[in-house]
Amino acid sequence: MAKILLVDDELTMVQIVTEVLRNEGHEVFPFTNFNGVADALVARQPDLVITDLYLDKTKPHGLEIVQKARALTPPPVVIMITGFGTVESAVEAMRLGCFDYLEKPFKLEELKLCVHRALNHTQVVAENTQLRKELKKKYQFTQIIGASEPMQAVFRMVERVADTDSTVLILGQSGTGKELIARALHYNSRRAQGAFIPINCSALPENLLESELFGHRKGAFTGAVNDKNGLFHDADGGTIFLDEIGTMPAQLQSRLLRVLQEKEVRRVGDNTPTYVNVRVLAATNEHLEQLVKDGKFREDLYYRLNVVPVNLPSLRERKDDIPMLVTHFLKDKVHSRSGQPFRISQRAMDTLGLHEWPGNVRELENAIERATVLADLPLIRARDLPPALLAKAPKDDGQEEKQAAEIAAPVGPSTHPTANVSAPLANGPTSLKAGVPLPQGVVSLKKFARDQEAAYINHVLATTHQNKEEAAKLLDISLATLYRKIAGEID
Ligand SMILES: Nc1ncnc2c1ncn2[C@@H]1O[C@H](COP(=O)(O)OP(=O)(O)OP(=O)(O)O)[C@@H](O)[C@H]1O
Ligand SMILES: [Mg+2]
Repeated sequence: MAKILLVDDELTMVQIVTEVLRNEGHEVFPFTNFNGVADALVARQPDLVITDLYLDKTKPHGLEIVQKARALTPPPVVIMITGFGTVESAVEAMRLGCFDYLEKPFKLEELKLCVHRALNHTQVVAENTQLRKELKKKYQFTQIIGASEPMQAVFRMVERVADTDSTVLILGQSGTGKELIARALHYNSRRAQGAFIPINCSALPENLLESELFGHRKGAFTGAVNDKNGLFHDADGGTIFLDEIGTMPAQLQSRLLRVLQEKEVRRVGDNTPTYVNVRVLAATNEHLEQLVKDGKFREDLYYRLNVVPVNLPSLRERKDDIPMLVTHFLKDKVHSRSGQPFRISQRAMDTLGLHEWPGNVRELENAIERATVLADLPLIRARDLPPALLAKAPKDDGQEEKQAAEIAAPVGPSTHPTANVSAPLANGPTSLKAGVPLPQGVVSLKKFARDQEAAYINHVLATTHQNKEEAAKLLDISLATLYRKIAGEID
């Protein structure tokens, strides 16, 4: 159901359209003249505006309504109704941002279809805005982990160029985070509201890649049944990410060079260029300089792309970052059976440090993901790691199993409520008795008891998926007491 504002000076027409749209389940605000429309736009915040172009045969009031509507945030979609033969005003309406126009006389089916398309469009735009917000959060630089010197060098470079239109060439082995960096560059630039379009240059044969990138005119080749815009057009106002650029065929390299130099795209089979405003990011795991020497990559294109090179280190070169990466990958995960956050044993962490990581961060992420699925406790042990890694695990000194036993006690049905207190990742405080961590330093008995209780309540809430009624029952206290304890009012 949508809110639709309808303006037309023909009373019967307004009555019929209102009825049709109400029958479709929409809320309709009908108007037969310009009076009050501007106020209603602000007061009603419609999703869709359908307006006639001429409301009194003299002045195209409709254009003013379009302008007022498009100035709202968020702007409603607008459908313009035009009389026969007013093509120029229809063009003007489209220029002002109308989604579509209907020429009078129209069939009611045509109207319904047009409304349906317009509302679908609104939904897609709303979803995209929401999605972009989420993506922006996901691709903040803080989500790219690395304290080691080579990663700090990467961050310095990336922060300097994020909000510019510089072409950036991202170099690094497979799985080192090239695409992650490209997305972070886009979502932290002034183009963040525009599209981010990744294309893998090695995934398509030459002719398909060409029409995919630059578009084509109808009939340009067999199978080109319609005019089609290329990805450079789609990325207008945003960023295109040319992944595996080293595999780009020679002819396309020349075309790309022209786009970079002239900012103009010619569709296949079209001589008229279109101006596009696109930032180009490229990545490769190949040695581009060598490809240039071997005559496989155009030298001029190489220099044009290599304005700002970002070299991503392999994980092998920054093993100190492994614990941070592991914490990052475990951050939002809980052990499915106990509902508890994961810890990792020292032996498992040491094992990760001994591996050479040919698949880099992606391989580490997968190993952790696998371990969280396999682990029968909220503790990742060496035995939960892939067999190739386990083979290199350091000698078992029994510590790992001791830690597991401490954790295992309360995971099943427990008779010892204070035993299950979540401790920070890695080396938690030492224990008084299995599973009861001691605080750092000395605190009053009252504070100790309160902290233990709070931790246990949290654990029970996690196992009931935050269902407080169920948690109160399990804890054998009233719901009101539980609420007061959560609020920290009683001890
Ligand atoms: N520094 C990092 N911090 C956090 N996650 C990372 C980091 N680097 C890579 N990742 C994660 O590792 C995975 C692989 O990264 P990405 O796809 O960007 O690598 P790539 O270099 O493009 O690999 P390929 O060459 O195989 O395409 C992704 O899930 C990404 O989120
Ligand atoms: Mg990639």
